[in-house]
Amino acid sequence: MTQSHQLQATVEALVRQGKGILAADESGPTIAKRFAAIGVDSTPDNRRAYRSLLLATPGLGDFVSGVILYEETLGQCAEDGEPLPALAARQGIVPGIKVDTGKGPLALAPGDEITHGLDGLAERLEAHAKLGARFAKWRAVYNVSDSLPGRAAIEANAESLARYAAICQAQGVVPIVEPEVLIDGDHGQARCAAVTQEVLLAVFRALHRHRVALEHMLLKPSMVVPGKAHVRPAGPEEVAHETLRVLRRTVPAAVPGIVFLSGGQSAVEATVNLDAINRLGPQPWRLSFSYGRALQDPVLQAWRGQPAQVQAAQEALRQRARLNALASRGEYDAAMEKSA
Ligand code: 13P
Repeated sequence: MTQSHQLQATVEALVRQGKGILAADESGPTIAKRFAAIGVDSTPDNRRAYRSLLLATPGLGDFVSGVILYEETLGQCAEDGEPLPALAARQGIVPGIKVDTGKGPLALAPGDEITHGLDGLAERLEAHAKLGARFAKWRAVYNVSDSLPGRAAIEANAESLARYAAICQAQGVVPIVEPEVLIDGDHGQARCAAVTQEVLLAVFRALHRHRVALEHMLLKPSMVVPGKAHVRPAGPEEVAHETLRVLRRTVPAAVPGIVFLSGGQSAVEATVNLDAINRLGPQPWRLSFSYGRALQDPVLQAWRGQPAQVQAAQEALRQRARLNALASRGEYDAAMEKSA
C-alpha cells in the first residue's frame, strides 16, 4: 500500500457515518486529577485497569471508530496479555496516539501558551506506528480575554500544528489537528466566534504553507460557546448556528471530518450541542465527536476503582457513546437520557 492509500484508508475508517472518537489520552498529571476526584491512586496498574475497561467495553466499536491513547497505554497489555492497541483493533477501533508533550507559556506574550513536542517527532511516530498507532493528535490551546490570544500565539500555534501535521503525513500517520479555544472566562459567544475564526484561518494558512493534504487529516475544534463565567449561556441552536457559521467560513470542503472536543461541557450538553449541529443539514464535512471528559466522566463516576463496578462503568460508556453516535446523525432525543 502506498503512503497515500494508507492515509486514505485510515481517514475512511475514522469518519464512518454514525461513529466518533474516544479521547483517552490524558497525560500523567491529567489522569491523576481525574482519578483523585474519584479517590483512586494514579498508579500504572490502575491506569492500565481503567483503560483496559474502556477498550474492552462490549459493542464500543458500534459507536466509536477510533481511540486516542497516551504513550504509556500504547505499550500496556490487558489482564490476559493482549496489547491494548490490539484490543482496540479487535473491537474495530483504530488506535491513535497523542504526540504533543504539553503546553507552556509563550515567551514575551503574557497569558498566551504554546504547545511543545516537535523535537524528535518523526522518530517517535515511527515507534508508535510499530505499536499500532495509525493516527495522531496535537492540541494547541488559546486563552480568551479582550486582548487574548495575541497574534504571536495564533501564528506560532498554527505553525506548530502545521509542522506536526506534515511530519505525521510524511510517516503515513493521519494527523488530528486540535486548536482548542478555551471555555474559561466571562467572554460572550461573539468573542469566542471571533477568536475561533482567526485561529482557524491561521491554522489553514499554515497547513497550506506546509503542503498538508487536507483530505488526509481531521480537524478537532472547540464549539463556539460563551465563556463558562459569562452571564448568559447559549442554547443548542445558538451554539450550532455560530459554530457552523465559523466553520463554513474557515474550513475547506476537502477536510473529510470535523470531530469536536467537549472542552468542559457536561456530558449531556456535549451530546445536545452535537445533535443540534447535525440537525442543521448536510455540510461539506462529516461532523462528529472526539470527546474525552464528555464520554468518560460518567464512566469514572460508575467505576470509582472498584473491580465489581467494571460492568456498570462499561455500560455507562456504551450508553454515552451510543447517544453521541445518534447525535452525530442528528437523531438524538433528550428522552433517551431517561430510558438509560
Ligand atoms: P475533552 O473532550 O475533555 O475536551 O478532551 C478532548 C481532548 O482530546 C483534549 O485534548
